[in-house]
Amino acid sequence: MLELTTVSELKNWSRTQHAAGRRIGVVPTMGFLHQGHLALVDEARRRADAVILSIFVNPLQFGPSEDLARYPRDLPRDRRLAAESGVDALFVPSVATMYPQGSEIRVAPGPSADRWEGASRPGHFTGVLTVVAKLFHLIEPDVAVFGRKDVQQLTLVRQMVRDLDWPVEISEVPTVREPGGLALSSRNSYLSPDDRARALVLSRALQEAHLAWRKGESRAAAIEDLVRRELDREPRVVVEYVSIVEPETLAPVATVDPHTVVAIAARVGNTRLIDNIEISQGIP
Ligand code: PAJ
Repeated sequence: MLELTTVSELKNWSRTQHAAGRRIGVVPTMGFLHQGHLALVDEARRRADAVILSIFVNPLQFGPSEDLARYPRDLPRDRRLAAESGVDALFVPSVATMYPQGSEIRVAPGPSADRWEGASRPGHFTGVLTVVAKLFHLIEPDVAVFGRKDVQQLTLVRQMVRDLDWPVEISEVPTVREPGGLALSSRNSYLSPDDRARALVLSRALQEAHLAWRKGESRAAAIEDLVRRELDREPRVVVEYVSIVEPETLAPVATVDPHTVVAIAARVGNTRLIDNIEISQGIP
């Protein structure tokens, strides 16, 4: 596995792959890799001939009171996991490489970034789209793979590619979970053993929504009630939002259909977690 850190190394690598007729797949990450990230790599390997994984804890997408400084990092372990899962190249740029002195242009999302995650984290999606746009420009991938776990991010990346006529295919991967249902996340490393047990309420509440739908409930308000009631059973879990939305624009719905998304953000102790399901799928 090659390790690239500069823009010129990255561009050379990308040019060489394309010159050899290889399709490039990119998996953007912030590192501290887990099986969720590796499922994206598997998908990229299925869809492309050369896979590049980027690891960059992007300061632009963290708010001033967020966890940028303590975001978990372990590059030696990430290197090993990436190599074992068949990544061809790792891109690990510095902040100065991605945002040289004086860089100030940003990619602004539309109004669908103002709700849910965007409302809780002002500026977050501008940071995400800006870094993803830079990665796309530098790498010129044929396909880029994102997780359903961050469903609003996935929606906004799709909108960016559509609205800016970007010739890159966006591929998505279902959320990878621990056996108990907890969605894998680099931020789970913040959880104490007790909080980890409490965090299971997120997936449990989502599954309640799925079960209610299976029994014939289609009123979003009734399903939201049910989800909130389940979440309220854990006093140390503080809900930020429960959203019941259609997947293209993440606009709220009054009546659910099979593709409706139920998404939750909640704090468990000091850790902010998000999770979501497609209502007809639930948690396998
Ligand atoms: P990060 O949180 O490291 O996630 C990188 C990718 O892995 C995202 O597409 C995310 O949706 C996916 N992912 C995370 N947990 C997952 C899980 N349990 N199952 C499936 N996929 C999962 O998301 C980011 O980084 C950043 O915002 C980034 C896109 C890299 C831009 O900085």
